Amino acid sequence: MARILVTRWVFPEVIEALSKRFELEQNPEDRPWPPEELARRLNAKAGVMATVMDRFDEAILAASPDLKVISNIAVGYNNIDVPACTRRGIRVTNTPGVLDDTTADLTWALLMAAARRIAEGDAYVRRGDWKIAFGVRAFLGQDIHHATLGIIGMGRIGRAIARRALGFDMRVLYHNRGHLSDAEEKSLNARWVERDELLSQSDFVVVMVPYSPAVHHMIGAAEIAKMKPSAILVNTARGGVVDDAALVEALEQKRIAGAALDVFEGEPKLNPTFLGLANVALTPHVGSSSRATRLKMCETAATNLSAVLEGRTPPNLVNKELG
Ligand code: DGY
Repeated sequence: MARILVTRWVFPEVIEALSKRFELEQNPEDRPWPPEELARRLNAKAGVMATVMDRFDEAILAASPDLKVISNIAVGYNNIDVPACTRRGIRVTNTPGVLDDTTADLTWALLMAAARRIAEGDAYVRRGDWKIAFGVRAFLGQDIHHATLGIIGMGRIGRAIARRALGFDMRVLYHNRGHLSDAEEKSLNARWVERDELLSQSDFVVVMVPYSPAVHHMIGAAEIAKMKPSAILVNTARGGVVDDAALVEALEQKRIAGAALDVFEGEPKLNPTFLGLANVALTPHVGSSSRATRLKMCETAATNLSAVLEGRTPPNLVNKELG
């Protein structure tokens, strides 16, 4: 039986199914092992099911000569040096598709929370500060309906976010390397524009691009300066796509109205200034976190891992040249 490592708590039914096919070692906790411990436990393992917090760089791969597959429980795989894996014949897999709608839902939840100041209002009520039942100017927020939504990155999740905007009668602008087909643009009521036009026209700017060094700080001081003073920036993609220091400064100076953030540079140690800002809505990297979706992600990761170790092409191979 091939030996595998599961670096986190995952749903017991997934562990049970994997245990029938492989000799399995698992981290029972839902927190990452330190890198040295991960490296030690990878010894003699043919497969590993991992999260985006487990780093697989050249050094750890070199120390794991038996490894044949890294199966990420995530659509993103910026924790893995994919070219180094390919050179070593290690297959890398991810979990695309199953989390699109759940991540789009969370993006909307955050966008609406920031627009209508939900977190601020919640804290106000809990603190016991609510003394006047109705205030004409209490927590004045921004309308979502009929506003302009700008989406940077129009992949599966970007399109799922755009679909939801139809219910709010919004104008949707998008920027992406490729254009959608005319039929798709029509069905989403979306129009491709240059990034600067999107930034200057949108009431809500959502970034939804996969992280790579090429998009590091894609939204920084210069881009934020192009946004409307009334605009809200939403990042549910990856920490590092937005320059958090520049965003903090812009929010402090009220150069934009607010932000809604699920991901941060250096998370979970986010820029502490965010915590004192009323005009941000914050969640702890939970875009795909519904019970049903996280179970599907774990099942998909298990299917990918089993396929490689049993000699089949996995459904979600990242380094396709090894297919
Ligand atoms: C993903 O799937 O990439 C999520 O961000 C979880 O890491």
